Amino acid sequence: MKILVTGGAGFIGANFLNLLVPRHPEHSFVNFDALTYAANPRSLAELEGRKNYTFVRADLVDFEAVRAVFAQHRPEVVVHFAAESHVDRSIAGPRPFLRTNVEGTFNLLEACRELWPSGEGLLHHVSTDEVYGSLGPAGLFSEETKYDPSSPYSASKAASDHLVRAWGRTFGLPIKITNCSNNYGPLQFPEKLIPLMIQNLLERKPLPVYGKGENVRDWLFVGDHCEAIWAVVHKGRVGQTYNVGGRSEQRNLDVVKRLCAIVAEETGAREAELLDLVTYVKDRPGHDERYAIDARKIERELGWKPQETFATGLRRTVRWYLDHQDWVASVRTGEYRRWIEQNYGGR
Ligand code: NAD
Ligand code: DAU
Repeated sequence: MKILVTGGAGFIGANFLNLLVPRHPEHSFVNFDALTYAANPRSLAELEGRKNYTFVRADLVDFEAVRAVFAQHRPEVVVHFAAESHVDRSIAGPRPFLRTNVEGTFNLLEACRELWPSGEGLLHHVSTDEVYGSLGPAGLFSEETKYDPSSPYSASKAASDHLVRAWGRTFGLPIKITNCSNNYGPLQFPEKLIPLMIQNLLERKPLPVYGKGENVRDWLFVGDHCEAIWAVVHKGRVGQTYNVGGRSEQRNLDVVKRLCAIVAEETGAREAELLDLVTYVKDRPGHDERYAIDARKIERELGWKPQETFATGLRRTVRWYLDHQDWVASVRTGEYRRWIEQNYGGR
């Protein structure tokens, strides 16, 4: 099978490719990525030179570029990860979110429709539980929960979900959608809560907790999310949505405290000294109170279940960051940007 992955140099896309390219030599994978600030080619170093892996640097917002890649590679399956993904950035500047998440998804849908006029292929759209808005203290997001996004990011993802469903219903495009809760694990850009806190702990910088730290997120190890997507691609029903979540609700402050404890154990630092770094800062505008996923549909229909617990996954994540400070340095300095220009400048 020829599988085109968009956004495969980002956090989840790179974990997906690192897991599946070596495991499936019978499939060929094309990674279509614009290499924005959130991407890092180092995340894919182990795939370079593999026969079943190709990288193409291109921007989804450029429709002619998308068409050209489709014409050259003629994918049978498209797994669409590419997006602007960080809520705080969407509040600071929403325009790139509308361009990539809405217009980019539209371009991809049109390219799929052109390539598969009789509904031959499959577009799998990777989305988020944030499209459902916020839960109060009780209840779970199911596939039937009404859309009620709060941030420019989640509004742009909601719009992209609607476009994908509309192309399925109106044009008969074979589509599937997954809406997943918060991911964590290796290769996550250190702007998201968990890698940011790990990095600040290692550098003894303040740990900025928004509001009172009482907001709740449902954490899922990234490898479990990747397995869920693969299961839906292969066994999920066309036209369907599957919610994916870790059954691991945590208050932000508890996540930060657990990270203090793990970093103390792993590095020999004093836990009390690390806890003193917790700093309460101004809350995020429109901050959703609680996310929690009802994942019974994917569990029942496809037999998927998360393999990692929050305790094991969090320790694994801390160890990964401790062992990969060179990766962190490369995404924070201009080094990887220079690498991109040198290696991919002509693509
Ligand atoms: P990320 O920000 O780490 O990576 C995004 C990738 O998309 C980068 O490699 C970037 O270069 C690429 N990209 C951005 N704009 C592009 C464009 N115009 N053309 C081509 N490539 C472009 O994101 P992530 O955290 O890996 O998230 C991947 C997907 O999963 C997103 O669609 C996101 O909404 C969704 N999601 C994320 C989470 C999470 O917790 N991170 C949870 C649920 C769903
Ligand atoms: O739920 C899925 C979503 O999870 C994905 O769609 C998004 O792409 C992903 O970024 C994530 O969104 P969140 O806004 O939940 O993740 P973030 O890591 O930014 O924040 C997690 C929680 O921690 C949130 O309640 C805000 C809080 N926070 C975050 C940061 C960066 C802090 O308290 N301090 C911080 O410095």
